[in-house]
Amino acid sequence: MGAQSPAARRPLVAAVLVGSLGIAGGCRESDRPVSGPPPYVRELKPGEGKLHVESACLSCHNARTIITLEGMTKDWWRFDVCKMRHTFGAEVSDVDTAKIIKYLEDNYSWPDPVEDRERTGTDVIERVCYQTPESVLYHAPEDVYLVSNINGSPLGVDGDGFISKIAADGTALDLTWISGEREGTVLNAPKGMAIQGSTLYVADLTVVRKFDLRTGGPTGNIPIPGSTFLNDVCEGPNGSVYVTDTGLSGNTEGFVNTRTDAVYRIEADDRYRAIATGTVLGQPNGCVAVPGGLVVVTFGSGEVYRLDDDGTRHPMPRPPRGVLDGVVALGDGRLVISSFGGQAIYILRHDQTYEALAPLVDNPADIAWDQKRGRIVVPQFMKSRVVYFNLDGATAGATPTGP
Ligand code: HEC
Repeated sequence: MGAQSPAARRPLVAAVLVGSLGIAGGCRESDRPVSGPPPYVRELKPGEGKLHVESACLSCHNARTIITLEGMTKDWWRFDVCKMRHTFGAEVSDVDTAKIIKYLEDNYSWPDPVEDRERTGTDVIERVCYQTPESVLYHAPEDVYLVSNINGSPLGVDGDGFISKIAADGTALDLTWISGEREGTVLNAPKGMAIQGSTLYVADLTVVRKFDLRTGGPTGNIPIPGSTFLNDVCEGPNGSVYVTDTGLSGNTEGFVNTRTDAVYRIEADDRYRAIATGTVLGQPNGCVAVPGGLVVVTFGSGEVYRLDDDGTRHPMPRPPRGVLDGVVALGDGRLVISSFGGQAIYILRHDQTYEALAPLVDNPADIAWDQKRGRIVVPQFMKSRVVYFNLDGATAGATPTGP
């Protein structure tokens, strides 16, 4: 806030006077703080979505709870509405959630320079109550994004993970399409996903879980004894999938290396084998299948390599920064890689050099490639939002744009 106008200062002067005169009593208009809106504002501003706020939000507290917080950022409003849903039990549908967040963004948020600079993706896809989203997968036949939500600690065996089904325009079709909180479904800290036939494979700590792609119902589990942090799953040949183990566990200080680094190949009949193991793998994270094997990007060493099915590694150019998470291959074979270390999305061009497609993307986790729209979809882990960047035809380095 800038300098106060004389009018704004007056109540403070009055309060000081009242105090010094020793007048006791309850709350008076003159005791009100000088910041915030004038005390007589008790009505929400008119606008689309106002009715939704009134019906969903005013059963536990009045409108002033909202009005006095005018000036919070857009991100803050989204967090707060999601907190009302997830923590305080406000009953708000997925559709109304988006409308309420939009209303609060439009009417009660002020621009924030840092947030706006980072806000390089669309502002549509994120009015959804993601909770620590780790991975996005584009499912072309249905034209939807599946988003895995860890919901809490990435290591937590807490049964509260969920997978959202999101339309490409950002509408939450079903926020908790698959949910560990539903009877009969186990999901703790879901991360990478892959689709083979009618099955969705999900990496969940030390187990790969299978779900029916149509119903979301569980269809089996593949425990991988000896693994600690199964992270990405990618489609392999002949109905197989590959899954990486980043080899992590945790204590109060943060992540600890378990040295269980590995890449497994699971066949259509659930039999699996490790095609490569050992810390030489550099904490493998994202993967994408290529002929004869897969490309792996690493969380620990910041490397990119191609791994043959017999376990031979073929180094590829190393991105400018590390702590790599997701990788996808574009139709023309170029790779796109997300980097926590660089807070960036890199594209490996045909001349084998990297270009930052999108710098300043805080916490970019496991990305998806929406080939229909030419879009890279990015879950922002700690920000609990999902943004996307349109790849402009063949142009690498295209500026990120909205829808
Ligand atoms: C089921 C009850 C309930 C509903 C419904 C509800 N809230 Fe809240 N809200 C709370 C509680 C509890 C608090 C915390 C109050 C406190 O800390 O003293 C709160 C606090 C707030 C705050 C103050 C900031 C904060 O996070 O403590 C805002 C803003 C807010 N709510 C907005 C909303 C909006 C917007 C909606 C509609 C989507 C909503 N509330 C619906 C229970 C509810």
